[in-house]
Amino acid sequence: MKMIITPIFLLLAIFQSINTIQTSGFIITEATIVQIRAAFKQNTLTSKELVQLYIQQIQNLNSTLRAVIELNPDAVRLAEVADQERKADTTKSHLPLHGIPILLKDNIATKDKLNTTAGSYALLNSVVPRDAGVVKKLRESGAIILGKASLSQWSNFRSRSAPSGWNARTGQAVNPYVATVDPCGSSTGSAISVATNMVTVSLGTETAGSILCPASANSVVGIKPTVGLTSRAGVIPISSRQDSVGTVADAVYVLDAIVGIDNNDAAATTEASKYIPSGGYLNRLKSDGLRGKRLGIVKAYSLYGFNNDAVTLNKFEKHFTTLRASGAILVDNLAINNFNQIASMILNGVEKALLVEFKIALNAYLTELVTSPMRSLADVIAFNNRFPDLEMIKEYPQDYFLDAQKTNGIGKPEEEILMNLRKASTDGFEKLMIDNRLDALITPNADGSLVLAIGGYPGITVPGGYDDNGAPYGICFGGLKGSEPTLIEIAYGFEQATKYRKPPPSKSSIHLYSDA
Ligand SMILES: *[C@@H]1O[C@H](CO)[C@@H](O)[C@H](O)[C@H]1NC(C)=O
Ligand SMILES: *[C@@H]1O[C@H](CO)[C@@H](O)[C@H](O)[C@H]1NC(C)=O
Repeated sequence: MKMIITPIFLLLAIFQSINTIQTSGFIITEATIVQIRAAFKQNTLTSKELVQLYIQQIQNLNSTLRAVIELNPDAVRLAEVADQERKADTTKSHLPLHGIPILLKDNIATKDKLNTTAGSYALLNSVVPRDAGVVKKLRESGAIILGKASLSQWSNFRSRSAPSGWNARTGQAVNPYVATVDPCGSSTGSAISVATNMVTVSLGTETAGSILCPASANSVVGIKPTVGLTSRAGVIPISSRQDSVGTVADAVYVLDAIVGIDNNDAAATTEASKYIPSGGYLNRLKSDGLRGKRLGIVKAYSLYGFNNDAVTLNKFEKHFTTLRASGAILVDNLAINNFNQIASMILNGVEKALLVEFKIALNAYLTELVTSPMRSLADVIAFNNRFPDLEMIKEYPQDYFLDAQKTNGIGKPEEEILMNLRKASTDGFEKLMIDNRLDALITPNADGSLVLAIGGYPGITVPGGYDDNGAPYGICFGGLKGSEPTLIEIAYGFEQATKYRKPPPSKSSIHLYSDA
């Protein structure tokens, strides 16, 4: 079940925002990659100016929102290099992400001055052997690593009671729309930073909901790719990563840059590379992308959709109408055969599998570090016991860690659990999709993320609107492995038909909320 480690990216569409930051006529609030590239081309904006504007925005908002753990001290210098490359008209300067800043969730390794800590003091002063596979590809594509985004500590796998978006190094991250509403995790800072125009795009990771949920809660687009489509090497593991970026288009630019084979995650990335379309993903951004698409709706079975929740169903009625009006075929009231058996295989299996895999994967990650005070899960547990105040162990006990430490690798019972999870996927989600010839399953928020996670299936969440209190919610389209091209057509079609996303309230109101 290593499969659960999906790299995620967040793309956010930044439509406009908090305060209008402007330079030489360029407004960064809600600026898209297309707009930034046009401004580069017209010489009305440099990468250096762009990086400086984002740093200013981070300095304005971060003390309230706690979305960024560290800034890259080399970001401005890297932007100057990009500007020189553009001036010299180098081949690299024509790449789509060239000169574009990106934030990375703090569990994604970078071989530079930034720390990679998963939000824990235990990993400060560790030296990683190399850039994570996705970071290598980002650098090759010309993107500028702006810094590390905050996250639920250890991607939410230390403590069952720790809230989403909390880690020891930055404290509790805040939802920029309604401060009292859960910002969701674990890629919390990746989503908040895009939502508030602190950066153009960001990368997160997803094991089960860690991209889809924060993207949905913070009104940005999130793509969780098929597991293996993007390399997991160099990511502090549990299981997956996600990233979300503002607009569907921005997310697709990032997806295009990070997919592909990585020798440090060879088996999975080679296997999944067959899914990469030869022309890339950008040509899937078609305005009529919904036409003829068969979209499934499961109303009465938890884990697969709406769970008979009348309030949510009521909210989504208008989305169903929009989808139909845009040419999609809605296949409604679908049933899950053998639901009770499938649900129990999932609910009894997931945590046990993750506990075993986490210990194996974390120990492997720590062993590979060039230097580190931590070489095993046992070392991290001992660190937490030595510094309980620093890591808030009394408030948020390290119960996941302790339970994982007790596991002893993958033996017969664990093999059986993994087999049941595979069976739950083939008998559940895959059968549903194939029997009904569906292009995607529609689920609210991140409510379908567990089903997508256990099978390594992709999903894209798009802003779906705002509740009466102003809290954002998302609509998610999930599909079979490798269905990203189709999901992108669907998500883009929905986004273009609705354009729900709007930036959070002004900075002053964020302060008011967070004081509450
Ligand atoms: C990484 O952590 C070390 C030790 O706390 C600190 O001195 C350094 O400034 C950090 N790096 C960045 C880029 O913040
Ligand atoms: C953002 O705020 C948090 C919480 O105060 C802090 O730990 C972190 O270092 C800040 N990030 C930056 C880049 O200043």
